[in-house]
Amino acid sequence: MKKFSVIGNPINHSLSPRLQNTWLKENNIDAKYVKIKLEDYEIKNFIQDIRNQKITGCNVTVPFKKTVIPFLDQLSPEAEQTQSVNTITFENGELVGHNTDIAGFDNAIKKLNFSLKGKKVLILGAGGVVPSIIFALNNMYVKDITISNRTREKAENLRFLFNNLKTLEWGKLTEFDMIINATSLGLNNETINLDFSSLGRDKLFYDVIYNPHETHFLRMGKQLGHKTENGKTMFVYQALEAFKLWHKIEPKVNTETFKLLNND
Ligand code: ATR
Repeated sequence: MKKFSVIGNPINHSLSPRLQNTWLKENNIDAKYVKIKLEDYEIKNFIQDIRNQKITGCNVTVPFKKTVIPFLDQLSPEAEQTQSVNTITFENGELVGHNTDIAGFDNAIKKLNFSLKGKKVLILGAGGVVPSIIFALNNMYVKDITISNRTREKAENLRFLFNNLKTLEWGKLTEFDMIINATSLGLNNETINLDFSSLGRDKLFYDVIYNPHETHFLRMGKQLGHKTENGKTMFVYQALEAFKLWHKIEPKVNTETFKLLNND
């Protein structure tokens, strides 16, 4: 039986096994997918296990999306530009790092019917998933992308990857068409202490968090009359793209798929 896994720390919250194991079963693939909590110093040996094919492939989550890169042989162009790997495959004797978060976000936005062409986007946070979101937004021809992060230096550092970014001091808000919460605020029901009342009307509030399904950030957006969307669709489609890379099969996505992720 083949083995797949998701590595991260913490990892307990991950719903990837639920999704991937359902698709494995539906497609009669003799494999299992497990979550593994690792420490930094264990990454090298773990990746060696993929080279030895003790593990066929893996997903990578916070905080290892960049850490794994030096141990791989090749990166896809998307992983290279974002310096972020969330899926590892072993192909023709080579360990390859891919980034399927980009396709996940891209699919999520396409399904929303909210054209971002020529729009102004604000991203709150500068953590692991932000380069992927920027990459996807750049392909949607947005007008501009502004990053606001508590630690401003981390927002500034993203300019080394993407030279078209603007940055904004944490706590200062002006008018934007879409605001993305890519901070970890909300994962444990924390509030975001920002005043969104000056934003105008009919904007899109998007939260990368999908569990809980409605963060304080999304509740606030809703109360102010904006469109809201959580990170569930992005999560499902990043998983789908990883499944396609490993198994060369497109798994089914339907309402049952989304129900698998209802945890709250
Ligand atoms: P990492 O930074 O290790 O990649 P992450 O979960 O992807 O982890 O990112 C956490 C994000 O949430 C960061 O942008 C972090 O801001 P800092 O860079 O200043 O740490 C943001 N964040 C976490 N707690 C926050 C808080 N209390 N207020 C504002 N931003 C917060």
